[in-house]
Amino acid sequence: MNIAILAAEVAPWSKTGGLGDVCGALPGALAALGHRVITVSPRYKAYADAVDTGVRAYIHLYGQTHEVRYFHAPDPASAAVAHGGATAGRCHHLFVDHPSFHRGGIYGDSHGSYGDNLFRFALLTRAGIEACTRVPLFDGEPLGEDVVFHANDWHTALVPLYLDALYRPAGRFRRAGTVLGIHNAGHQGAFAAHQFAGLDVSSRWWPNTDFSGQLNLLKTGVVLADRIVAVSPTYAREVCGELGFGLGHLFGARGRDLLGIVNGVGEEWNPETDKHLAAQFSADDLSGKLVCKRALQRELGLPERDVPVLALIARLDPQKGVDLLMQALPWLMQHDVQLVMLGSGSAALEQQMREMEWAYRDKARGWVGYNEALAHRIEAGADMFLMPSRFEPCGLNQIYSLRYGTVPIVHATGGLADTVETLNPSQDRGTGWAFRSFTADAFIDAMSWALLTWWRFPAEWRAMQQRGMRQDWTWERSARAYERVYAEAAGRRS
Ligand code: ADP
Ligand code: GLC
Repeated sequence: MNIAILAAEVAPWSKTGGLGDVCGALPGALAALGHRVITVSPRYKAYADAVDTGVRAYIHLYGQTHEVRYFHAPDPASAAVAHGGATAGRCHHLFVDHPSFHRGGIYGDSHGSYGDNLFRFALLTRAGIEACTRVPLFDGEPLGEDVVFHANDWHTALVPLYLDALYRPAGRFRRAGTVLGIHNAGHQGAFAAHQFAGLDVSSRWWPNTDFSGQLNLLKTGVVLADRIVAVSPTYAREVCGELGFGLGHLFGARGRDLLGIVNGVGEEWNPETDKHLAAQFSADDLSGKLVCKRALQRELGLPERDVPVLALIARLDPQKGVDLLMQALPWLMQHDVQLVMLGSGSAALEQQMREMEWAYRDKARGWVGYNEALAHRIEAGADMFLMPSRFEPCGLNQIYSLRYGTVPIVHATGGLADTVETLNPSQDRGTGWAFRSFTADAFIDAMSWALLTWWRFPAEWRAMQQRGMRQDWTWERSARAYERVYAEAAGRRS
């Protein structure tokens, strides 16, 4: 199949969270299955490995024609596979260059979201469609019109609208299928109704984009895409209700075309090869994990003692339930434990993290900022990982934690419910704790069980770590599921 993945973030070039991780790793896994894949994302800055293709496109939006340029980088993962021969050059990354993308942030800055985000992401979407027929990437040929578009979140959710409104009436992309990936239905791309006029489509499409009198990009995709993929089965059910944030009934109406696929984990999150660590380790030999724990304590200036280290890494957004941890903090700090937090986002939570450090100098560290290498060292060095998210479409950190033998304690929502099973020692089952009600009491209860097990039942603890570490979270597993959905979406059109 020919697959075009359109996204606001593609790691390692751009990332604010899991969306970037997914759109950076899934393409290589699809290419390894034999497909031809491109990603199209903005060129937010000059990426060292991305070169100008010389190809231009001219896109009409907001009453003007805008020139975009395409830059290109090969896929790092499939370059490695290419040594085997067969899949050489099957995955390419394109970056759309336009002055409106050259800013400090991806979506906004300290003053809030950028005022021209509708323009920026509509431009990306149009440029993504155009790339399929313009940029010669596969032995001198472009990807072509027989393609499956995989749009992601509201930013590129206009793909099916543009195909229906502009391209198919002109006889183009008639057999192209569309899949909308839902990573977070809490963000919908809602804009004032008058902005519809800038999109360059006939007003007869307004009903497909109108939600409560506003232009709503996610709604447009939910209504028009051939298939919808939420990033976990539980989340696919949840978006049909309250977690659809108003779009629940529309998701529900698409029930037969909506399914959940849990994300995978890239090879950079493998404790046997992770270069950020003081020592590598595996399920069979966990000795390196203790080396990592001591190194982490030393790095953060915590006493190098044999006490449970609990960790949290997250965007500091209300979604992540960090407030629940703050409520549980006085309880937790009564125990002989250490707590490590890494995150940035809400100014109020950043301040609370700093205050926590002052209040509990010998027990707690709150690292404010974004730090990829430290995230790896925390995953490796901690004993327990906390994810009390209010909602969590998939969540990646709990999966990294499973791979690193860092036992996750999570709120049983979305992908957290699908990936973490509560310990049941009598049946040799379970990989962590998943608490049901979103309350500090339920969270404290789960942490109590974890602390008790860590102190009193080390053999059960080790067995639980090993069960988590031996699970299969490779991207190949997810890519095979996406492959089926793409085939259905393409089949619907042909
Ligand atoms: P979300 O996409 O909602 O932020 P995920 O769990 O899917 O949640 O993915 C979060 C990703 O962002 C992970 O790769 C995580 O390690 C990373 N991350 C989040 N905050 C930070 C931070 N402060 N420093 C380093 N990595 C971070
Ligand atoms: C979103 C979700 C997160 C998910 C990620 C990648 O950012 O908040 O749960 O893992 O997308 O799909």
